[in-house]
Amino acid sequence: MASAPAATASSPVLSPEFLTDNHRVVAELRQRDPVHWVTDLRFWLLTRYDDVRQLFTDPNCTPDPHAWEHYAPPTAGSWKALIESKGLFGASPAEHARLRQLVSLALTPRAVKRMEWQVREVVEQFSEPLRGRTGVVDLIDEFTNPIPNAVISRITGIPPKGDDDRRFRELAQLTIRGFPSFAPEDVKRESEQASDEMRDWVSSMADERRRAPRADLVSDLVQAQEAGDRMSNDEIVMMISALVTAGSETTMLGGTFALRSLLRHPDELAKLRANRQLLDNTVMEVLRYDFGVGGGLPRYALRDFELRGKQIRKGQQLQLSFQGAHRDPSVFRDPDRFDIERDTKNVISFGRGPHFCLGANLAKQEMRCMIDGALGFLPPGASLREDLVRWSEMVIMRRMENLPVAFDG
Ligand code: HEM
Repeated sequence: MASAPAATASSPVLSPEFLTDNHRVVAELRQRDPVHWVTDLRFWLLTRYDDVRQLFTDPNCTPDPHAWEHYAPPTAGSWKALIESKGLFGASPAEHARLRQLVSLALTPRAVKRMEWQVREVVEQFSEPLRGRTGVVDLIDEFTNPIPNAVISRITGIPPKGDDDRRFRELAQLTIRGFPSFAPEDVKRESEQASDEMRDWVSSMADERRRAPRADLVSDLVQAQEAGDRMSNDEIVMMISALVTAGSETTMLGGTFALRSLLRHPDELAKLRANRQLLDNTVMEVLRYDFGVGGGLPRYALRDFELRGKQIRKGQQLQLSFQGAHRDPSVFRDPDRFDIERDTKNVISFGRGPHFCLGANLAKQEMRCMIDGALGFLPPGASLREDLVRWSEMVIMRRMENLPVAFDG
């Protein structure tokens, strides 16, 4: 039985192509070494669909980072330290189920359906100034970035206006960027500070809602707390911050990738313009084709086990690659083709099992409304100016900072 190779300094995960031509590198790994040890980053990268799907719910693994052999706790007393021990990924299974149940009511398919007009209103607010525009427009800045934050702000009750809105979005993004185990120390520090600032903000909002409740999720949770003392103050703040953090950057990326993929595939865009019934499936195809950042989603081994002939040791980290899973030709025929009519039932972008994305219904609705809104303002000749795209990089993660679209073709 093979175990972790002693040295893989030349791992393709660390090559520049992993950033610039990720799908090609991942495809090569999937074929040659689907359970691949990256010495420098101290994790296994899993790139086959079956393995990724299985590991989401495998009893040999947990998403709780405390199980990692190299776990370094955040500063004692910081908000991040509390989140890591009592938040959704650190809580015991019973506590986790209880926390989920309290907020999941706000995000059931029916509840989300009722919110549709609010989502449409927000999308319209940002679409309206884009109709009739000319020149090159950055659609991340003017469209896909502000929308998810404005939506989640309305649901939770965070003021969605002006500088507050911008700062809140920034805090959510700074917080999330410090999550990967390989994030540099300064990024992790910034992430800790951002989550502390978010805690103070949400906490004072909860106090306000206790005095004067409104029709929002913070008020609902405060009232539930007073009725049955079911959620502590820290838990309320933790859930609201979790929703804001998990719901902004991800959905912004979803909307951005949707517009990018459609603009890069004018035939598919034309097909969608002609038949809006394809919107739901387009959302899932975008998530299959393009979604996933860098190394993927972490899991930690709770005990020694074997996977495809490799010995995984208790305490090691495994990264589940969405790019690997969703371009696996054994599950998706002609996987590198963007096809908004393909069968997308096997797409697993929202995870599986107990941690299945709480905001999946909302995210899909937001993406659908964003694409629908964009079809209304994008002139037929609009084109993506790939030459003007700016990228930021963090170790093995690469992020588009703008989506420059020439409205006059
Ligand atoms: C396209 C957008 C989104 C994608 C692709 C996405 C994906 C995911 C995935 C893969 C997980 C599982 C993580 C794991 O098992 O380690 C997850 C969990 C989660 N997501 Fe999302 N998400 C999106 C949008 C949202 C939105 C809009 C919200 C909030 C309204 C949200 C809230 C959450 C929460 C709270 C969890 C943790 C659930 C738990 O631990 O029980 N997500 N998401």
